[in-house]
Amino acid sequence: MPASPSSPSPLLLALREGTRDCHKSLEARLPFFAASFDAAAYSRLLQAYYGFHAPLEARLGDYQEPMRAKTPALTLDLQALHLSAADIDALPLCQALPGINDEAGALGVMYVLEGSTLGGQVLKRAMAERLGLDPANGTAFFDVYGARTGDYWRRFLDRLGQASSAPAAQAATVQAAIETFQSFERWLEQRNVLGQIPG
Ligand code: HEM
Repeated sequence: MPASPSSPSPLLLALREGTRDCHKSLEARLPFFAASFDAAAYSRLLQAYYGFHAPLEARLGDYQEPMRAKTPALTLDLQALHLSAADIDALPLCQALPGINDEAGALGVMYVLEGSTLGGQVLKRAMAERLGLDPANGTAFFDVYGARTGDYWRRFLDRLGQASSAPAAQAATVQAAIETFQSFERWLEQRNVLGQIPG
């Protein structure tokens, strides 16, 4: 049965269930809402985002439709925050990324990247309030699909709904999503842009 907003596909339910704790853990450690968070901290964080998204999107290759590319928006934001093209080229890139060998793995990685555009709407508004940034001067990445955010998400859910229903393929998708969250969190930690593990 095709997925619809009223009937999430079994794969979507498994992805939500499998990554709920990962999302909670990362959200709790991201500093966007910390009292000390300022423009310099935002720039450092976005540089670390770039170091993860640029190589991961390159790995996704043809599995990701070109219109979903998010690295160009990150580049624009870093330029708006006064990094030169040479500065951006010199940013460290994450090497410990999930492997992507097939559609099942690609869907898991994409679930994380596409889902983050939903939370991105919250972050775009928060950064406008806290730092006075807007998509034209520093938050293009968090608003990468603009008014089409919901539409792009639904189209991604359609693709998820058409995925193989073989249990091994579904397990591989959930595993890839978990690994994506974990490698992102480890990378951000290594770049020193996260808060402490709560508790
Ligand atoms: C402080 C940072 C974050 C906040 C406040 C946040 C907030 C949210 C919110 C409110 C939603 C639900 C949106 C909706 O249902 O319309 C969401 C969904 C999601 N977020 Fe985040 N998020 C954050 C960081 C991230 C990061 C860094 C990632 C991944 C790299 C991520 C991945 C996802 C995914 C995959 C979903 C989709 C869940 C689903 O509907 O299946 N989020 N986030």
